[in-house]
Parts: sequence; C-alpha cells; structure tokens
Amino acid sequence: MLSILAQAASGWANLDEFLFIAMPYAVIVLFLFATIRRFIGDKFTYSSYSSQFLENKHQFYVAVPWHFGIISLFLGHLIGFLVPRGVLWWNQVPLRLYIIELGALIFAVSALFGLVNAVLRRVNNSRVRIVTSRMDFIIILMLLFQVLSGMYVAVFDRWGTNWFAGVLAPWLWSLFKLNPDISAVRDLPLSVKLHIVGAFLIFAVFPFTRLVHVLVVPITYLWRLPQQVIWNRKGRTPSQQQ
Ligand code: HEM
Repeated sequence: MLSILAQAASGWANLDEFLFIAMPYAVIVLFLFATIRRFIGDKFTYSSYSSQFLENKHQFYVAVPWHFGIISLFLGHLIGFLVPRGVLWWNQVPLRLYIIELGALIFAVSALFGLVNAVLRRVNNSRVRIVTSRMDFIIILMLLFQVLSGMYVAVFDRWGTNWFAGVLAPWLWSLFKLNPDISAVRDLPLSVKLHIVGAFLIFAVFPFTRLVHVLVVPITYLWRLPQQVIWNRKGRTPSQQQ
C-alpha cells in the first residue's frame, strides 16, 4: 500500500516537472518557431480579421470591455513578474493590497463581459457566424477558462498578488535563467496550477489563431503625422454624403 502511495506521489512529482519545466520550454520554442514561420510564409494572415463591417453595435460591447480588461490584466501580471519586490512593498499596507486586488477583479469582470458577448455575438449573428472558424471558438473558450480560473484564484486563494510576487515570479525567473526551480510551485493549490497550465496552452495555440494580431498592432499610428484623405471623385465629399 505504502509503495503504491509512494509511486503515485512520484508520478505527481513527475507531472509537476513536466508541467512547470518541460512544457514552458516546449511552448516557448513552439511559439517562436510558429509565429516567425507564419509571419515569413503567410504575412497577410497576421490579422484579427475584423468583422466590424458585418455588425458594429454588438461588437462594441465585445471589443471595448475585453481590450480594456485584458490589457490592464496583462500589465498587472507583467508588473508582478518584473518588479515583485515593488508589489510586496506596495501590499504592505492592507488598504493598498485591497485596492490592487479589487482593481484586478474589476478588470477581470470587464474582460469576462467582453468574452461572453463575443460568444453570444458569434453564435447569434448569422453573418458573423459564417466568418467564425472552429479555432475562433476554441480560443474564445480557452480565454474564458483562463479569465474564470484567474478570478477563482483571486477570490478563493488569497492574496494572489502577494504570493505571485513571492512564489511565481521567482519560478518564472528561474525558467528564464535556464535554472528551473519548481520547489515552491509544487505546493500550490490545484486551481493555481490549472490557471498556469491554461496560460501555457494559450501561448501554444496563439500562433495558429487570430490573436497574432497583437504582434502587429499598428502603434505607429500614435506618432506618425496625421494624413489627409482626399476624395478623388467629382461631386460631393464623403462628409457631405452623410
Ligand atoms: C493568457 C494568460 C493569462 C490570462 C488571460 C490571465 C488572466 C487572469 C485573470 C483574469 C485573473 C483574475 C484577476 C483578478 O480577479 O484579480 C488572473 C489572476 C491571477 N493570475 Fe493570471 N492570467 C494569465 C496568465 C497567468 C500566469 C502565466 C500566471 C502565473 C505564472 C498567472 C497567475 C495569476 C495569479 C497568481 C492570479 C491571482 C491574482 C490576484 O489574486 O489578484 N496568470 N489571471
């Protein structure tokens, strides 16, 4: 009996090594290889394939809350990774900890609202449904799982911003330094492990989805000189036609 338990325990230990050492490296290699290959071989597919021209009203309630929430959450995760000591210092005062946790939850609700609307829009609007691939549904469902599991962790495994800085940031840095150390990650609750594995699975399928558009966001629009578009047709200008 004891030997069976020991075997099971060592099986779980191996699973942790696979999930938190082997899988992250495999995903990074796949991500780099596949995104570069698609960019070189199929540059014009680097797009979000906007369906705004098919339906504009409902799309507003997808794109705006989703991007507002997810970009803020991305920056939050990035800050926890880049300046974990800064986060721990900030969280020393309970009120500041509550502010950061509540802020993250608000961004998460916003992202969730956008995602749920994305599903409804793609299911209910026949014109949008036609241009929706199976991969679009898969990535939306994966993102839904990711946001919901993150919210679960934030609510039931408190206080995530603190132990992200204390446990997860050092583990992620150990991966980057090619000296992986998962000693602390092994003891994390299942909910947190699922959230991390979900994130790596998203990175793994990223190059094969419309999410690649985030790599070619036209940010040069922010600083390039304004352009004037001249209507080269006799008669009324577009503004007069409205
Ligand atoms: C696709 C990537 C990811 C997405 C979309 C995502 C999304 C989220 C969301 C929506 C929350 C809830 C925020 C809140 O309500 O406070 C959250 C929390 C959290 N995430 Fe992620 N996450 C991602 C990747 C990761 C990774 C890679 C890690 C760790 C290595 C991680 C660790 C955490 C932790 C510890 C929390 C709890 C923070 C808190 O208590 O406020 N996440 N995530």
